[in-house]
Amino acid sequence: MKSELLKQIFIEFCESQTHLEGLLSKVPNAQKAKIAISFGAFLRRPLSIAQTLGVDFKLTPEEFWSMSFIRLKKFSPIYDLFEVLWDRLPEIPSDGSLQDFPQKLTETWISDWGQDAAKSYARILSQDPLTTIRLHRRARANEEEMNAHFKTDGFPKSRAGRYSPYARVFKGYAPVLATSFFEKGFFEIQDEGSQVMSMFALSPEMVAPLLFEMPSAEKKDVNVAALMKHFETLPAMTVVDACAGGGGKTLAMADLMSGQGRIYAYDVYDRKIQSLKKRAERAEERSIQAVCLKGDDLSPLKKFYGSADRVFLDSPCNGAGVLRRNPDTKWNRKPYAEKEGFLPIEELQQKVVRDYYPLVKRGGKLVYGVCTFQKSETIDQVKWIQSEFPDLKLECSGFLGPYETDGFFMASFTKV
Ligand SMILES: C[S@@+](CC[C@H](N)C(=O)[O-])C[C@H]1O[C@@H](n2cnc3c(N)ncnc32)[C@H](O)[C@@H]1O
Repeated sequence: MKSELLKQIFIEFCESQTHLEGLLSKVPNAQKAKIAISFGAFLRRPLSIAQTLGVDFKLTPEEFWSMSFIRLKKFSPIYDLFEVLWDRLPEIPSDGSLQDFPQKLTETWISDWGQDAAKSYARILSQDPLTTIRLHRRARANEEEMNAHFKTDGFPKSRAGRYSPYARVFKGYAPVLATSFFEKGFFEIQDEGSQVMSMFALSPEMVAPLLFEMPSAEKKDVNVAALMKHFETLPAMTVVDACAGGGGKTLAMADLMSGQGRIYAYDVYDRKIQSLKKRAERAEERSIQAVCLKGDDLSPLKKFYGSADRVFLDSPCNGAGVLRRNPDTKWNRKPYAEKEGFLPIEELQQKVVRDYYPLVKRGGKLVYGVCTFQKSETIDQVKWIQSEFPDLKLECSGFLGPYETDGFFMASFTKV
């Protein structure tokens, strides 16, 4: 079977529900690009691909998306599809539709933003993602040499970022991690929207003009040079990055502050904090102090009460805005709370605000962000923060993406 590797990777996915990136890390380099493209496309738009390639699943979308992983693993039409997909990859559609997402997700999009908007989100979020890198300040002198390398075989076309002065955007899968530039810490993989959110966390007023009242495909003109100039002269700040995860935005903020100031990065998972520390070392960022907070013990935070210029809450969320990048998350049948052993997602977001609010100093800012566009996790949470904390004044808020960039919502409050 030519598609044996696809079959194996799907079985592993059903058994372990590992993220796409994790699954790909186990694939031999020679086959990585084809597997990344074919398996990624399957996860993003399974039913549209099956339809186009003439493989009949004999199920309604609703029935398909309600199948357990145990049943999916034994569902032979998927293996028939892999066989065809492997040979006819160039024929597959580049975008899908509502049928390629679980109904519980699309119903929320429809009730929040209407049928037409939901169709548009489904079309865009079933496409293959761009690969975007963020150039580190140390590497700016090497930019030309890197760009020349990125024009060689194996790399798709690339262009400069439209929103972030430090971004280079590749049209599709690009093997950027297998370069010596990555090993030297010259760049990180980071979506432009995520780069913009890092800028927002430090200087919301500079980024607010890029935001929309609802997730939108419209584009706004960005004065990238002005942004760059602004960040070159940013004063050193004390930043608390409360949901730092693997540190994508922590590293971006450290870079934007030119290694000045101090960033205290927290997460509840030690493996994420360890990964952040490794990445900070590779990027030679010394302004970051990363700590894992165990359970509900918030005592390590007490010494910072009333002292942070910025408290950035890149909160856990349902991740709809990054479904192109993490299509595996829509396959997961368990609700977030059950999966993580946490509170329901909206309650967890509110808990994080409550836990970290005391750290903001007077005149400082609390910045709330999520990579989703569900109302209950975005504009409803802004209303909740306003009613719960009268001394937090809403400065600006809005959506970015999920079109050219991944989909984000961000809001900034000043403590008076
Ligand atoms: C959206 S992710 C953060 C992504 C990260 N900032 C980045 O740029 O890569 C949300 C993070 O919040 C963490 N988290 C969940 N509950 C938390 C809590 N109660 N306190 C702090 N972090 C939490 C999760 O482990 C996850 O890493």
